[in-house]
Amino acid sequence: MVIERNLASQKGKEYCELPSEPKNSKSKKSKRRQRKASPVQKLYEICKQVFATARPGIVPPAGDVERIRSVLDEMREVDFGLSPNMPFFKTTTTSAGAAAGRPPKITYIHLHLCDKFSIGIFCLPPSGIIPLHNHPGMTVFSKLLFGTMHIKSYDWAPDLTRSQVRQPPGGARLAKVKVDAKFTAPCRTSILYPADGGNMHCFTALTACAILDVMGPPYSDPDGRHCTYYLHSTLPAPSVVDNGGTVAGEDDSDTYAWLEETENPKYLDVDVVPYSCPTK
Ligand SMILES: [Fe+2]
Repeated sequence: MVIERNLASQKGKEYCELPSEPKNSKSKKSKRRQRKASPVQKLYEICKQVFATARPGIVPPAGDVERIRSVLDEMREVDFGLSPNMPFFKTTTTSAGAAAGRPPKITYIHLHLCDKFSIGIFCLPPSGIIPLHNHPGMTVFSKLLFGTMHIKSYDWAPDLTRSQVRQPPGGARLAKVKVDAKFTAPCRTSILYPADGGNMHCFTALTACAILDVMGPPYSDPDGRHCTYYLHSTLPAPSVVDNGGTVAGEDDSDTYAWLEETENPKYLDVDVVPYSCPTK
């Protein structure tokens, strides 16, 4: 999302201290600190190790992906001091946007951003929308901390010959639906990859939701990793002959869609706030 693109200009800034644990320290004090490491601290430390050699388009080894996923799978909103009753998750019905029928404002809680990875939480009131966008060359972990949300994601369809696709429109590109489903926390962490897993996705909050996002590497305009938004073309879904020779029907819109690049959605309204470590 564009919010990470804005944050990319602030490389190295951390709003909450997520210090490294001392390496190879055998002192009792150090061991006590390691035992007390919070889930957030654990996540940060593992991300730092896994993404140390991160490069665009390169997926970390499967074991490293699983290390991050296993930590995320256990995380809950309380680990971040969040609760659905907080103002982040309320719709402001008196705002001009609400009066105009636009989706409510979203809040992004910024935990960490460096050249290698980013960690943040999207807070959505009911009906909040994160529009369809891509993640070029990235591996992205999305953990729904609480709430119910609809996720629709796509990957670009493999190149198809003219005989395989009818009605190819100019300017649009064929994408195949990866996920089109409702998710309710607690649920497993979703992972997308540079070329599959649903690299383009959109989120619609059916209730108040909090989504923890870990991305490696993060968006970076100077490095060519731009966030691009997409709209569904009004053209009908194509008829496609897949590799098995099966012909999909004219109304196969639940499988394929034409996507067109679009400007940043004007209705998208995101506040960025610093992370405040929960006190325990
Ligand atoms: Fe995303």
